[in-house]
Amino acid sequence: MEEIGILTGGGDCPGLNPVIRAVVKRAHLEGWKVLGLRNGWKGMIEDEFLILDARSVSGILPKGGTILGTSRTNPYKKAGDVEKVKSNFSKHNLKALIAIGGEDTLGVAQKLYQEGLHVVGIPKTIDNDLSATDYTFGFDTAVNIAMECIDRLHTTAESHNRVMVVEIMGRHAGWIALEAGLAGGADLILIPEVPVDIAWVCDVIKRRHARGKTFSIVAVAEGTTLKDGDEVAERKFDAFGHERLGGIGQVIGELIEKKTGYETRVTVLGHIQRGGSPTAFDRVLGTRFGVKAVELVKEGKFGFMVSLKGRQIVSVPLADAVKQLKLVDKELYDLAKIFFG
Ligand code: F6P
Repeated sequence: MEEIGILTGGGDCPGLNPVIRAVVKRAHLEGWKVLGLRNGWKGMIEDEFLILDARSVSGILPKGGTILGTSRTNPYKKAGDVEKVKSNFSKHNLKALIAIGGEDTLGVAQKLYQEGLHVVGIPKTIDNDLSATDYTFGFDTAVNIAMECIDRLHTTAESHNRVMVVEIMGRHAGWIALEAGLAGGADLILIPEVPVDIAWVCDVIKRRHARGKTFSIVAVAEGTTLKDGDEVAERKFDAFGHERLGGIGQVIGELIEKKTGYETRVTVLGHIQRGGSPTAFDRVLGTRFGVKAVELVKEGKFGFMVSLKGRQIVSVPLADAVKQLKLVDKELYDLAKIFFG
């Protein structure tokens, strides 16, 4: 029986289980066995896996997280790990490996493909910052969670006449903050793509309050920086050299309170945005991605990633997906600015 592997790498995200389920069901139609590697690339290095049969994917469609586990393990970091990946690939005689991940996991997939392994990618990240696809699954769920939190912050902000700063995930790109802020009616949205002029922020808030408003909601993406210096408090790095962010909301909140005199509170949404059940959009997108990935394996289209273009699921070279990050475009941010203040 032919065998394919599947792994989930990087931060988890709602929609991973629908993808796994779809891959298994579609692969079974071909009569292929599916090996689920545990904890991302770590499973490929250490040969930790489980066999994904019909029973193991039953009931997982609405579940958040990933039944395979995930990690930010980078096989190109420690000497000898890539060789272990290759030898385990051969040991199981894998027809192909389907790697589900963001820029880091797919970056590894692309390198392994260049080194001769049969790899297909599926784009995943709540940040929605992967090029070559209109949307990644997980993003819609994260936006809806953040929007609901902004709705909730409105009522308490209004009752107490406060400025509420809400820190939202988004390492390099402000997609979640932007869309949740737009959908939730935030009075200011601050994103990594546009370094923040704190004097302008305070001015917008003061003008709003001068108009008779007694509260403000400021949505801040965690990767946001201040124009006059790097103010992110925490500095820790993962195996891919990415900084673990956090603290910009607090910095901005304190500056707003100091410079405007308005009482300010800060809420960090953190991993709440990545937890729980995926939205219908993410379940359907994940399902379509999973099916298409198996079809790429069938066609022998290795080194490709499935992608959403408009309403179609297509395939694009992995190289295009990892070339550069998809940042928020100026046009959309300018649109959001119409609603500031
Ligand atoms: O890349 C997705 C993401 O959720 C980012 O928005 C965030 O900066 C990061 O992962 C958090 O990573 P971790 O789960 O390792 O704390």
